[in-house]
Amino acid sequence: MSDQNSKSDAADAQLRLYAEDLTRTYQLEKEKRGQLERANDQLQRYAVDLNQTISQLRESEKRLEESYLDTIHRLVLAAEYKDEDTGDHIVRMSRYSALLAEKLGFDAKQVKILLYAAPMHDVGKIGIPDSILMKPGKLTDSEFETMKSHTLIGARILSGSSSELLQAAEKIALTHHEKWNGTGYPNKLKGTQIPIFGRIVALADVFDALTSRRPYKEPFPINVAVDIITQDSDRHFDSNLVNLFLENLGEILKIKKESESLKHPDKG
Ligand SMILES: [Fe+2]
Ligand SMILES: [Fe+2]
Repeated sequence: MSDQNSKSDAADAQLRLYAEDLTRTYQLEKEKRGQLERANDQLQRYAVDLNQTISQLRESEKRLEESYLDTIHRLVLAAEYKDEDTGDHIVRMSRYSALLAEKLGFDAKQVKILLYAAPMHDVGKIGIPDSILMKPGKLTDSEFETMKSHTLIGARILSGSSSELLQAAEKIALTHHEKWNGTGYPNKLKGTQIPIFGRIVALADVFDALTSRRPYKEPFPINVAVDIITQDSDRHFDSNLVNLFLENLGEILKIKKESESLKHPDKG
């Protein structure tokens, strides 16, 4: 009997040990779980914080980009004060340029860079004397030489920046009067020596100048302007771009119409 009793005592003791073990294990697991939950809560708070920081950063980046573009716009405005070019001209030729770049297969970022850089093509006119810039008649040879320097002055104003946008603008300012056949200025570059953005802006700029009213001239009819551009293919302009321009003339004219309806909303 006593043998039996001591056996059952031992079993009881064993069971108690198991039970204590189990309780300890359970408590440890519970603690671990609590720690995990707390860590999880903490992580969630970090995630919320991080999201807030990211959206604040995005917001300030957006504001920075806006003020940057605003500054550029004011630089363009300053140049326009001295030129017959109107704000509408700048908007249209930039949009024509961006359209051509897009059709040429440039990615969205490059298209945007061209859209924002093209308006600065003539900022160098700030440095040209009013007597030449606003002369109603034909320029003398030496006056024309001075006038040509707006490309170099513009490039100098825009040079030395680490911004991709201003680097593109510098190239455009320098090369938008170069011609495919090498007879342009200031460096008589030929063919693909002329950076592609310069070639695009050259075409967009001339087409808009031809089809716009200026104080001294009526706009050319579209078909006449298109003929002039086509005849200058391979002479003034890159023929590849002229073809692209002709293929997409519908969209070009849509941009032109949009800018006119902005100016004269009653005319639709
Ligand atoms: Fe120019
Ligand atoms: Fe222009």
